[in-house]
Amino acid sequence: MKNVQARITGTGRFLPEKVLSNEDLEKIVDTNDEWIVSRTGMKERRIALDSEPTSMMGVEAARRALEASGRTAEDIDLIICATCTPDFIFPSTACLIQEALGCKKAAALDIQAACTGYLYALSIVKAMIESGAHKNILIVASEKLSSLVDYEDRATCVLFGDGASAAVVSAEGKGLLLLDSILGSDGSQEAILKVPAGGCRTPASKQSVEEKQHYLQMDGREVYKHAVRRMEAAANQCMEKSGIKEIDWLVPHQANIRIIESLAKRFKLPMEKVFCTIHKYGNTSASSVGIALDELTQETELKTGEHLLLVAFGAGLTWGATTLKVVNE
Ligand code: ACO
Repeated sequence: MKNVQARITGTGRFLPEKVLSNEDLEKIVDTNDEWIVSRTGMKERRIALDSEPTSMMGVEAARRALEASGRTAEDIDLIICATCTPDFIFPSTACLIQEALGCKKAAALDIQAACTGYLYALSIVKAMIESGAHKNILIVASEKLSSLVDYEDRATCVLFGDGASAAVVSAEGKGLLLLDSILGSDGSQEAILKVPAGGCRTPASKQSVEEKQHYLQMDGREVYKHAVRRMEAAANQCMEKSGIKEIDWLVPHQANIRIIESLAKRFKLPMEKVFCTIHKYGNTSASSVGIALDELTQETELKTGEHLLLVAFGAGLTWGATTLKVVNE
């Protein structure tokens, strides 16, 4: 039997139209454009309307990925949705996407690895395609982080935005070969980035709402330290696993331009080779790497044989890196 190698055959993204700029935030909390740009690199972010839940944004991104891959909804045999802002606790957002797209032959499930969700999904689907169990899998990473953000907390509300990305991963065709993945986690640091209430430990109550426990809480400095260290180590291990000395493009999670620049420095990559969307969209959690990857493939003519490195980090803690190679068949 021929060895199957999983590859991304099409990508897509969806960003809501509504823009929340740094100037808009200045009117809501005690902050300013200079602080936000110098500390994060963010100028504006997108905010989904009530009529744009995570599933709807995911469906739009998925339609574009399907079109780009030349596959139809009927070709998809599995849908994995990476999100930490699902429409409901259950049913899964993946099931809502399955119904909206009409993927009649697809199984569907959600995964939750916070900002690393897209990379966790790529690693899982690679194994499922290469085992022969599936032929065309749809990954959707969609987030409505604005639903978890406290717009009275200046330390977090400037950082996050909404949006979705999608990828079709197939057993054959031209696209981006999934070479290797490194994934990791460290639950001992769960407290530095979390939404304390809404799960079974602290179900919604008048008190939990009054105490704002349903909002995202973050120790930014701690998260920053872990992010740089973990992403650098994962990227190094992944490149070593793939036997790659130099990469052509770095597509990092878009959490902070200073984290991205320090990664680029460590890999001796000029910033022209690092794809950034952070100034436009802020941190869109699980969807950020997929949004950046989709924009990169549209704006740049990737050459056969080029290597890409994706790297991400998020709550959990979770982290990951994935190497890709551009293939023509
Ligand atoms: N405007 C103005 N001042 C502010 C703001 C703001 N929006 N927010 C905080 N400040 C103030 C603080 O109150 C503090 O003031 P003080 O010194 O008087 O106490 C000062 O600015 C410095 O605050 P720090 O938190 O130390 O600022 P820092 O330089 O660390 O930047 C930031 C904060 C941008 C959050 C940074 O720590 C960061 O990017 N952390 C990593 C975030 C990340 O990677 N997340 C990824 C995972 S996300 C996920 O999984 C969902």
